[in-house]
Amino acid sequence: MKSNAKTPEYYIQLEDKYGAHNYHPLPVVLSRGEGVFVWDVNNKKYFDFLSAYSAVNQGHCHPHILNALTRQAKQLTLTSRAFYNDQLGEYEKLITEIMGYDKILPMNTGVEGGETAIKLAKKWAYKVKGIKANQARIVFAKNNFWGRTQAAVSASTDPSSYSDYGPFMPGYDIIDYNNLDALENILKNHDVAAFMVEPIQGEAGVVVPDYGYLKGVRNLCTKYNVLFIADEVQTGLCRTGKMLCVQHENVQPDILILGKALSGGFLPISAVLANDDIMLCIQAGEHGSTYGGNPLAAAVGIASLEVLIEENLAENAEQLGQYLRTQLQHINHPLIQVVRGKGLLNAIVIDEKEESDTAWKICMEMSKNGLLAKPTHGNIIRFAPPLTISKNQIDDCLEIIEKSFRQF
Ligand SMILES: Cc1ncc(COP(=O)(O)O)c(C=O)c1O
Repeated sequence: MKSNAKTPEYYIQLEDKYGAHNYHPLPVVLSRGEGVFVWDVNNKKYFDFLSAYSAVNQGHCHPHILNALTRQAKQLTLTSRAFYNDQLGEYEKLITEIMGYDKILPMNTGVEGGETAIKLAKKWAYKVKGIKANQARIVFAKNNFWGRTQAAVSASTDPSSYSDYGPFMPGYDIIDYNNLDALENILKNHDVAAFMVEPIQGEAGVVVPDYGYLKGVRNLCTKYNVLFIADEVQTGLCRTGKMLCVQHENVQPDILILGKALSGGFLPISAVLANDDIMLCIQAGEHGSTYGGNPLAAAVGIASLEVLIEENLAENAEQLGQYLRTQLQHINHPLIQVVRGKGLLNAIVIDEKEESDTAWKICMEMSKNGLLAKPTHGNIIRFAPPLTISKNQIDDCLEIIEKSFRQF
């Protein structure tokens, strides 16, 4: 190995030369994580204020999940669904009891969860609602983000997501987010099968709808016999201060999509949950995935859910989220236009109108000072630490954030 093999530049150049350029990372090369902290290859320690886009709600390398992973990895990792395994059923029982649905359909990535939810809604539309063949429509909200497949980018209103990827999936309608009149208007079309929506739009910049929106969505979907699909891939699993973000308004979607923190960051695990009248519309051979529901994922899924509950991470997210937002508002810096969020999914809006690299520069400064966050959508910085963070640690982070802003 060359003498410079251990420098950050070495690793950055390696990725740059041999990897596709489909990401623009902060120039930090990480090699270790524990709890709310990550360390770079020079052993510099950082607070992780992104949590891998909320996949690491339980903190990095959580020992209980790690234990489940290693135990199961030595035992049996993959059977495919051609056979039963002794982990999947236990996981299915636990997650359906916690989330309050009859059944789960296990997948891997978040975007596959979205794909599965849409396929399920279409099956239901043709078999139960009585929509004519190939006429079913799915409604999405402007600025939605649910992944990178063709079906997902077909729903996107962000040119950097969809440009040059046409032709797109037909049968989609886009309406304004947080607008119940627009929703009611479109749901009058009998061909609408489902409305798929994030309870808080994460990638769009932590956009929190008005209180009452989710209840309104629930009521309108019921009124017009349209399925309410909640994409809780980012907002779910205690991130916003409840197990599910929809629980802030006490509503139950017809189809729930989970991902990310379902594994606490160990491997891709996603899930679609629904009751029997919907879930049983898909029969054997009509949908699946080689890795979906594998015993390793099932064991990790159980342990990840146990940590969320046993460590009261929803309560911690609620309490420390309130505290973090209040303290961020007190920083009183001209660059901080708005502080918004719920639980520990938060953002500082520097300028909604994009086209400047201020947020990026502030993230670079914070990284120098030992805290990692990333701009989302131009000039918005998302703050989403692991939910295991303590008040003292939040105070340390606030000091770093304030100090970094004072440089500008
Ligand atoms: C709300 C939401 N849905 C779906 C996805 C896609 O998840 P994945 O990247 O695991 O496919 C994301 C990813 O950020 C997301 O935020």
